Amino acid sequence: MDLSKRITGLTGEQGDGWGLFLRAREMMAAGEAVVELTIGEHDIATAPEILAAMERSARAGHTGYAAVPGTDSLRDAVAARLEARTGVATGRNNVLITPGGQAGLFAAHAAVCDGGDRALFIDPYYATYPGTIRAVGAVPVAVAARAEDGFQPDEAALGAQAAGASSLLINTPNNPTGVIYSRKTLEGIAAICQEADLWLISDEVYDTQIWQGRHLSPRALPGMGERTLVVGSMSKSHAMTGSRIGWIIGPEEAIEHLTNLATHTTYGVPGYIQDAAEFALARGERLEAQIAAPFGRRRLLALEALAGQNVVRVVPSDGAMYLMLDVAATGLSGEDFAFALLAHEKIAVMPGSSFGQAAHNHVRVAMTLEDTAFLAAFKRILSFAAAKAGEKSHGRGASPHASRVTS
Ligand SMILES: Cc1ncc(COP(=O)(O)O)c(C=O)c1O
Repeated sequence: MDLSKRITGLTGEQGDGWGLFLRAREMMAAGEAVVELTIGEHDIATAPEILAAMERSARAGHTGYAAVPGTDSLRDAVAARLEARTGVATGRNNVLITPGGQAGLFAAHAAVCDGGDRALFIDPYYATYPGTIRAVGAVPVAVAARAEDGFQPDEAALGAQAAGASSLLINTPNNPTGVIYSRKTLEGIAAICQEADLWLISDEVYDTQIWQGRHLSPRALPGMGERTLVVGSMSKSHAMTGSRIGWIIGPEEAIEHLTNLATHTTYGVPGYIQDAAEFALARGERLEAQIAAPFGRRRLLALEALAGQNVVRVVPSDGAMYLMLDVAATGLSGEDFAFALLAHEKIAVMPGSSFGQAAHNHVRVAMTLEDTAFLAAFKRILSFAAAKAGEKSHGRGASPHASRVTS
């Protein structure tokens, strides 16, 4: 029996970029000790008091179907949080609770794209973006942000693709680069969206992980409230990745239709998870800062280690839990470097090419290990890069993919 093209073609011809991750998992399953710096998973579990709130709610009977757009009180809490951060009046009817940010990204695209519509996004990108767009029957169009521009999106390149498109998806603070979009970048994006009549889908799941500068939600820019869908999540801000809870914030009419979509897809989010999220949000910014702090600390440790060498360059990483490293000086592509590092050092990092073409000379390091172990692994990455750069300058550069088969 044939399956739909929509589902069989979801990840496109280039694959989904998870090859290295899967290889690392295979090695671990075979008993090898791999240092895992691939995915954005905290090295701590959800806080015991959040779990206790979840249990209290479930034991009190909040185990049946919950309200599909989300409980009133959680929607109020999410609205108040965003209003406090952006200054934009936001009420319960602007909020749909979703099973995580990923479900929010899917629903947001379903809300603004018809089949065959062009949906823009920025390369480098979070690995699921093109597949999410294909999943709603739209056509993903990547617009490259250049390393030389510090991976800030290029207004001219975006403008050239905007006519006739339905939406633009951005992500700041950014995964994989760690870059925070500047006010100038966001104002340029807002102008393009208004000129070409695009919806802006703004993925802000890292909005609590800011190391330098300020996070500006484009929903707060003039004229953008009516055409922006903000996607948020408790995954990164509250170490609740497995609880699957997030939201979409947007104009009331869009949220009304998105609620209808949720009724026909997820039928909402478990009530005890929503109550736990509400409990966690009520703890305020202090808890968020506490959960974010280890990544900020490790970033400083890594920057200090980087300062002592000149082979690996770091992309200015102002936010999120990742560091994007330029490994071009080793003579290897990001992918070959990552596979060689896994084979020889048993350290798993993501090749930049998992996130598109714009970062193919890079690897992304997730700062998701306890400080001492993280720094030790990071220094080993730098030593490995130095050795590879040395081989290159002595004419012994690895041929493409050579290191991958030596694993
Ligand atoms: C940029 C970005 N958006 C969305 C998500 C999805 O997060 P969630 O766990 O809320 O589905 C992730 C997860 O890593 C991410 O990095």
